[in-house]
This record gives sequence, C-alpha cells and structure tokens, in this order.
Amino acid sequence: MIGIRNGHLVDPVTGLDEIADILIEGNTIRQIGPDLDLSQADRVIEASGWIAAPGLVDTHVHFRDPGFPWKEDILTGAAAAKKGGFTTVICMANTSPAIDTPERLRANLARGQQTGIHVLQTAAVSVGLRGETLTDMEALAAAGAVGFTDDGIPLMDEALLREAMERAAALDLPISLHEEDPAFLASPGVNQGAVSEHLGLGGASALAEDVLVARDCMIALATGARVVIQHISSGNSVKVVRAAKAMGAHVYAEATPHHFTLTEEAVLRYDTLARMNPPLRTEADRQEILRGLQDGTIDVIATDHAPHSAEEKARPFAEAPSGITGLETSLALGVTVLVRGGILTMSELIDRMSRRPAELYHLHPQGLTPGAPADLVLFAPDETLCEGKIVYEA
Ligand code: DOR
Repeated sequence: MIGIRNGHLVDPVTGLDEIADILIEGNTIRQIGPDLDLSQADRVIEASGWIAAPGLVDTHVHFRDPGFPWKEDILTGAAAAKKGGFTTVICMANTSPAIDTPERLRANLARGQQTGIHVLQTAAVSVGLRGETLTDMEALAAAGAVGFTDDGIPLMDEALLREAMERAAALDLPISLHEEDPAFLASPGVNQGAVSEHLGLGGASALAEDVLVARDCMIALATGARVVIQHISSGNSVKVVRAAKAMGAHVYAEATPHHFTLTEEAVLRYDTLARMNPPLRTEADRQEILRGLQDGTIDVIATDHAPHSAEEKARPFAEAPSGITGLETSLALGVTVLVRGGILTMSELIDRMSRRPAELYHLHPQGLTPGAPADLVLFAPDETLCEGKIVYEA
C-alpha cells in the first residue's frame, strides 16, 4: 500500500479542493480523508505543498511508431508523458505506414500496454492519409480506435469529410481535424506577417485555418458529429468555434501550450525549434486563445507533442520539419501562464488537462474517490524548473 499525506487534492470530477490523505492499495484508491491512518502503508509520500490530481490526459501526441523511431517511439514517448504527469495519451495516426488498418492499430495498442500508462490510438480518416478514400472506420473502431484523424494534413474533399463525420457520428467517436488550407499557405511553419516578411518567407496565413474551421463547423452542425478542431492558433477561429457551439454544433477545440504561451516572435529567437503547423501567431491571437480557454470555447489543452531529430531541426528554416515537443512542459506552462496569469484556477486547469479530454474521448474519468483506479499525478506547483534559464517571459 502507498500513502500520500497532506496533499492538496484538486479534482474537477468529484469537486474536491482540499488538503487530505490518500491510501492506495494495488491499483485502487482505498481511502481519502483528513488524518488517515497510514501506518499500514509500505511507503508514505509526504505531499505537503504538492497537488494531487487525476492523471493528466493528452489527446494529441505523435510517438512516430512505426516509421521514425529515431524521433520518438512508444516507449520513449510514454516516458516523456510520465515525466509530465500524463497517465493517458492519444497517439496520432501519421506514422509510416499510417495507422489505417486494424492490424497496425492493434500492434500499437499492444506496444502501448508495455509502458505503464494508457497509450491509446486514433486511426486515420483516409487510407494512407491521402484524403481520397475513407478507411474501414467501423473495423478500426472495433479494433479499439478512440477517434479518427488525418492530423498533419487537412482533408480537402468536403463530400468525403461529410461521409467521415456521418460514420464517426454513427460510431459515437470524435473526428479531429488539422485545419490549414494549402491555398493560403505560402510556406508552412511561420505565421504570415511581420516575422515571415523579416525572414523573407511567404508564411502561413491565419486565413488558412479560419476558412477550414468555418467550413468544418458547418459540416459538424449538419452531421451532428463530435468534431475536434486541433491545435487552434487563430483568434478568428476561436470566435468561429464559439459561434458554432452557440448554434448547437458538437464542436470542440484544443489549445496547445505553445500557442497559449508564445507568439510569432519566438521564431526569431528559437528558429526551427519554433517552427510548427499551424504556426505561432500574434499576441492578439494568443489573447483570444486565452479568452477561449477561460470561457470554455476551448475545451482541452493538448500538446501536439511532435518530436523531430536534432539533425532535421538543424536544417535551414524552410527545409526543417514542423513540430515541437510538449509532454514534459505542458503542465508547467499551464501553471505558469494560465494559473499564475489569472486565466484559470488550478481546478479549471486540471479540468482542461484531465477531465474534459477524458470525457471527450469517452474514457469515463472517475477522479479521486475510493474504489477508483489510482490514476493520479502529484506535482509541486511552486517548484521552479530550469533554474537560471529564462524559459518564459510574462
Ligand atoms: O507541427 C506539426 N507537426 N504539426 C502537425 O500537425 C504534425 C506534426 C508532426 O507530425 O510533426
């Protein structure tokens, strides 16, 4: 048995927000309350000053397995997740080959079971992520897919997308979308604006996201599908999602830690390390993302953890791959930018990082309660990471 003494329990599922002890037996929470008798525990963790919360859930990670294990694989990805407080992650399907058959899906789920956390898997919407033919979504759901996505690539065929949404709705699974219309991408990875001009790059216009978000909100409304707008980056897109929700569409949005923390200027400082799709945008966009997180328009914080090798990131900006890691820093950025910044309470942060993502993917979170799985995170909210280095400037 494990005892946790004097932790600050913050659990949006049960509504707990108090100092208490926890007694864990095997994989199950046995007791919660003040001044528990922890004498039977084999190990007692002194958690005063720490927060105990339900394990974090990241609905958007790239573990590069199969195809690119030098960037990340399921074991190293899960290790990063554990470091960051995540006990459940949902892997994207843009591997090589893509996760577009039940066999590939099952192989990844089996590998995930060796990690000690819940590694769940989405399936591709289209065969080979080519946007031409839909996968056997029913067979993939039966094999354990938790949702469908061609993340990394937009779906440009509206009729195909409508059918995919109808099938996802019939399966009651989410379909999540990468929203960048190539018509408005002169060059990906950097916002089209002052910084792209300075660097002599064409840049990716916010319009590329806005037009697809508007289109897909309307298809979502027509089909009743549960549609997730992935890694929202543009302020206008946040406003469109807000309006679509008000109209009754089952539209959900993810915000990444990088989009709520940084702006396009980061590209001048961090070069290719700040290259991602969709790109970092302006302070006005970031402010609208913060408003969206605050008023619930943005439902979940998801990292889009997308590792690449140092060699690839060392290439010139236009030739480097897009993507940034996030699993190890997401919670710290949430605490620093959102909680200390007065945007969310700690309980709301845990809500956007655990309860809501779990509910969106039907994971039935039970929270911190006797009889529930001991699926929790302990963290020190006041600890300073990377001492001596400036990692974030308010
Ligand atoms: O920057 C990105 N990198 N955005 C995506 O949507 C995909 C990801 C990747 O797979 O590297």
